[in-house]
Amino acid sequence: MMVGKFIALEGGEGAGKSTQARMLADALRARGLEVVVTREPGGTPGAEAIRALLLDGVTGDGGESWNPRAEALLFAAARSDHVHRLILPAVARGAWVVCDRYLDSSRAYQGGGSGLSDHDILALHQVGSDGLLPDLTVLIEVSSDIASQRLTLRDAGNSDRIGSRGGDYHARVGAAFGALADAEPARFARIDGNATPEQTHTLVLQALAPLLA
Ligand code: TMP
Repeated sequence: MMVGKFIALEGGEGAGKSTQARMLADALRARGLEVVVTREPGGTPGAEAIRALLLDGVTGDGGESWNPRAEALLFAAARSDHVHRLILPAVARGAWVVCDRYLDSSRAYQGGGSGLSDHDILALHQVGSDGLLPDLTVLIEVSSDIASQRLTLRDAGNSDRIGSRGGDYHARVGAAFGALADAEPARFARIDGNATPEQTHTLVLQALAPLLA
């Protein structure tokens, strides 16, 4: 049976993950591989509907929209739909899945940023997605200066419900990503994303070399 690979790209706001996902997909396709590029929250119609609830919020509720636990449950529900309808079938037929954010975003944002315990987030992931982990998680790290320059260009002041949280929140998210990668070095490739997209892409391909061999 042919089995593909599941690669997740992770990082804070403005790390350049979406650009790297596209560049990686092109490089893998050039090797003759079937590639599915997807994102979280989202990737299936149901998960994209949950994405809108999470990132746009809901009107008429006084502004908070979701408390941190409800938010974590919604991310886990979106992930469950995405894993079962898109990721697992694609990997089973031999495709490479390149996913812009996955579980470690919940651990970093809802855990590090919002204060939920890692144990609870992993428990939700076990229920929703049988604890499925990527073959490799590429963590792209950039300085806060570079991230804010990129966000100014990308969002022009219109960031979403989570992206618009304060600098302290995003500093906790960045620290949590680093701590996760430190704790599980075999599961992560840690990449410096401060240079040009092409230079970062070269580092991403180097990190993937063992999977491509
Ligand atoms: P993005 O796709 O533009 O990066 O936006 C997704 C936002 O959702 C981003 O602010 C990170 C956040 N997020 C979480 O807080 N937890 C998660 O599990 C995921 C996948 C994303």
